[in-house]
Amino acid sequence: MSENIDSRTLIAVRGVDKVFSKGDEKVYALHDVNLDIYREEYLSIMGPSGSGKTTLFNMIGALDKPTHGEVFVGGVSLPKLSSLELSYFRCKHIGYVFQTYNLIAWLSAIGNVMLPLTFLGESEQGAYKRAAEVLEIVGLGGRLDHVPGELSGGQQQRVAIARALANDPSIILADEPTANLDMKTGEEIIALLKDLCKQEGVTVVTATHDHKMLAASDRICWIKGGQVDKLQTVSEMKINVGSITTS
Ligand SMILES: Nc1ncnc2c1ncn2[C@@H]1O[C@H](COP(=O)(O)OP(=O)(O)OP(=O)(O)O)[C@@H](O)[C@H]1O
Ligand SMILES: [Mg+2]
Repeated sequence: MSENIDSRTLIAVRGVDKVFSKGDEKVYALHDVNLDIYREEYLSIMGPSGSGKTTLFNMIGALDKPTHGEVFVGGVSLPKLSSLELSYFRCKHIGYVFQTYNLIAWLSAIGNVMLPLTFLGESEQGAYKRAAEVLEIVGLGGRLDHVPGELSGGQQQRVAIARALANDPSIILADEPTANLDMKTGEEIIALLKDLCKQEGVTVVTATHDHKMLAASDRICWIKGGQVDKLQTVSEMKINVGSITTS
């Protein structure tokens, strides 16, 4: 590997630019982003709307390719994989939680969670058993046969988290996982993510506006105008009730 990657680092973002072009117009959504995400840490990416959080999240999760630069996960350069290799890599190692849940509307909760399992070759019976197990973990053991339209927003978000957990990923990427939830459900989802990180050793990366997420995180990556503005551990921040000081 040509890049300098520390042994603590699971995800290495190196010199990443993302430029969106429309005709002559160019939008630099990310500009020379360098970031190391450590194994088993809980990192929150925070920043104003339009600062590039989702774009960075998409680069880290190989949902989109950088215009320049590279992203390494466990030493593998994601932009260099073929699309088939990438699909396999994503399904096996990364659990995604999207802001808009992205559940399949006509499949039940258990059907949605079984999908990534069957994609990797699990038998129908094995997939059912594992999907029921993760739905139980997220507190939805009693709702296996409900389709998304019969579930509340918070419950759909839990199904999305269960789906992300199904293949026992080493990384969970969650884009605004609490954005559509009330305070209490949001806190439960954060506690669940924190638990996965600290008990199961999953590396959790969230993109968020939610200041409740700060206390759960090990580090915060603040981004501004498509660049990393600063990286802080939570202990470097002074968090008081009702006010947050970031420097
Ligand atoms: N497909 C696209 N085509 C053109 N511009 C885009 C595209 N996707 C994102 N952008 C632009 O890139 C910049 C970063 O967008 P991004 O979605 O990453 O922001 P964000 O920090 O996630 O914002 P929010 O908090 O509102 O979700 C914005 O200026 C946005 O308009
Ligand atoms: Mg976003």
